[in-house]
Amino acid sequence: MNLDRRALLSGAAALGAAPLVAQAKGRAPNPAFPQGFLWGAATAAHQVEGNNVNADIWLMENVTPTTFTEKSGDAANSFLLWETDLDLVKSLGLNTYRFSLEWARIEPEPGQFSIAMLDHYKAIIDGCHARGIHPFVTFNHFTTPRWFAGRGGWHNPEAPALFARYCDRAARHLASGIGHATTLNEPNLAGLLGELLPGDLLATDKAMQEACARAMNVDRFSAGSALYVADPATFRAHQIEGHKQGRAAIKAVRGDLPVGVSLAMMDDQAVGKASLRDAMRERYYGEWLRAARDDDFVGVQNYERKVWNDKGALPAPADARRNTMGAEVWPGSLAGAVRHAHAVTGRPVIVTEHGVGSEDDTIRAWLIPNALRDLKLAMDDGVPVHGYVHWSLVDNYEWVFGYRIRFGLCELDRQTFKRTPKPSAAVLKRIAQANAL
Ligand code: BGC
Repeated sequence: MNLDRRALLSGAAALGAAPLVAQAKGRAPNPAFPQGFLWGAATAAHQVEGNNVNADIWLMENVTPTTFTEKSGDAANSFLLWETDLDLVKSLGLNTYRFSLEWARIEPEPGQFSIAMLDHYKAIIDGCHARGIHPFVTFNHFTTPRWFAGRGGWHNPEAPALFARYCDRAARHLASGIGHATTLNEPNLAGLLGELLPGDLLATDKAMQEACARAMNVDRFSAGSALYVADPATFRAHQIEGHKQGRAAIKAVRGDLPVGVSLAMMDDQAVGKASLRDAMRERYYGEWLRAARDDDFVGVQNYERKVWNDKGALPAPADARRNTMGAEVWPGSLAGAVRHAHAVTGRPVIVTEHGVGSEDDTIRAWLIPNALRDLKLAMDDGVPVHGYVHWSLVDNYEWVFGYRIRFGLCELDRQTFKRTPKPSAAVLKRIAQANAL
């Protein structure tokens, strides 16, 4: 879902022709990363597990109309092949695996918790430890149970408490083995996109959720992550409260477990007088960065930069490398986003996602070392960064875009589910194993 968010953000603003801010050149970083630095790859349940039939998004994929170009189906079959995935993480020389728990499996009906499903995720956590991998667990990555969406989702005043109850149950079963936890994935963009979307896409998204409400015979269906949000202020307030209550529930079980939230952040740069940069930063991350000040760390997920003048975002330079969606790929954006996240929160940063959607793996192989170089410069300047987790371990279900957009370090054969590392995986492996650039 995020790619289109980013693409829409790119297209949204008025365009000018001022020169773009250049990437910092010249200074060489100290190549060594700190001991214990987390080097990882990420997935999310709905995008890799397959047959996640009790999730809101599965229903959205299967109603008419739908904004989803393809159904998730078997995805990468990771629900069955999770051991293959862990072996893959290990073979890529990484010490961390970020994956998400599927709330819709753990709590298939309100208040009915599945011990078998909790045991499934416990086996993955144990499997990480058996391989010397640090389990980095997202409690909720976009999908919510159908019943939760059918009760108005995050619009429902009971939503924060419902989420906290799920966090409590999951934490009591799993927290002892978890290395780091995040509550929600990229909640900061929720409800902000309506103003930026072309009318027809937003209208289809709204009609899709209405079709889901009819299919479930409920008054209101509101998905955990959707383009159309009826009441963005309420949705947002409940998610922030859900994050706080969810974090408290996890901490009550294990106070020493580091808990944070992952935020979608661009690297926003200012050009000219009266640049919109600061206003945009406040709009897209302000409230959530302030909420993250009480967390143990802030998760930063970066894919792009935006250069703002007083009218809007400038177009990418003509010679820019571009992803499949046509947006600029600019290695310096990761460090820029990380610097801002730390400056506002004062918290240590973990890069919980960074990558590129492209069939051209040479772009990924170029992006990784160059982004890490600038990230290390930020660290040398005193920004505490504790880890880098690449999105994604394997090509997977890219939400409304289906399987067309490829973010994987490994290629996926959708018939045999065989995973094959791409050359970029060797680039990340070399750096991770050396713990140095
Ligand atoms: C999301 C992932 C998504 C990725 C690429 C991130 O914002 O967390 O679920 O696949 O972006 O768009």
